[in-house]
Amino acid sequence: MTSKRVGVRSLREELPEVLREVSETGQPVTVTRHGQPMATIVPGVPAQPSARPRIIALTSLKGGVGKTTLTMHLAAAIAQTGESVVVLDADEEVSALRWQQHAQAEGVTLPFRVQAADRNSLMRQARQLAQAGQTVVIDTPPNNREVLKSAATVADVVLVPVLPTGMDIDRLATTLELLADLEAALPRFNYAIVLNRFDARKGMAHEANAALNSHPRLDTVVRSLSAYEKVFGGSPTELTQFREIWDEILGAMGGPA
Ligand SMILES: Nc1ncnc2c1ncn2[C@@H]1O[C@H](COP(=O)(O)OP(=O)(O)OP(=O)(O)O)[C@@H](O)[C@H]1O
Ligand SMILES: [Mg+2]
Repeated sequence: MTSKRVGVRSLREELPEVLREVSETGQPVTVTRHGQPMATIVPGVPAQPSARPRIIALTSLKGGVGKTTLTMHLAAAIAQTGESVVVLDADEEVSALRWQQHAQAEGVTLPFRVQAADRNSLMRQARQLAQAGQTVVIDTPPNNREVLKSAATVADVVLVPVLPTGMDIDRLATTLELLADLEAALPRFNYAIVLNRFDARKGMAHEANAALNSHPRLDTVVRSLSAYEKVFGGSPTELTQFREIWDEILGAMGGPA
């Protein structure tokens, strides 16, 4: 197809009109000088919004930092936005699955499904669910490098809950080292520390803050609430901080597409 031609002289006056035409018709316009083609104005390719995260993994080699608690609450907060959510339980302790079983026994319906992960096919399982339109939140076990690696590799976002104590932050190094290794190998890798059981009155030791500052960290922190301790087997209700976490993730990754 020959594109429309416009002379350099007329382009000076007609530029806004020509640009509008190119953008509206999607057809290029060739700029000519003395009848010879000089350049072509082509329609701009609209910037692709970054894909909305479909797979989120909660990981830490350290136990008891809130992986399961954050998994279940984040899943509920995402479900509130109208998404269909599946929690993939990759921990052999199956805390998330047991949470669901307890809920079922009490006649409570969680606003998301919990499914056992098959450790040998965790990545494929998560990808297939995401391709089927589910948002997948993966709960991982402590002290398991293999599962952490698989979950973090397939995830669009990896969250690392950390308790804001000196000892916990000290123990974080091994997890972050593993994630740094994955970051070196994967073209797109997003991870962030999320402070859990944060008490604003106590704040955080200056050294602890400094140790964390060299890593990506969510602004939103999860406070220590008894509601989080009591909710096992029930539907998570205290979701304000988790809606904020989800908004922060969407904001960082290109909006709620
Ligand atoms: N923000 C919070 N406020 C109050 N209690 C919390 C909070 N986060 C976690 N907990 C409590 O801390 C304990 C450990 O949390 P959780 O089981 O979620 O950690 P985990 O990292 O999944 O542990 P594991 O490594 O054993 O799987 C639980 O009793 C949970 O109720
Ligand atoms: Mg757990």
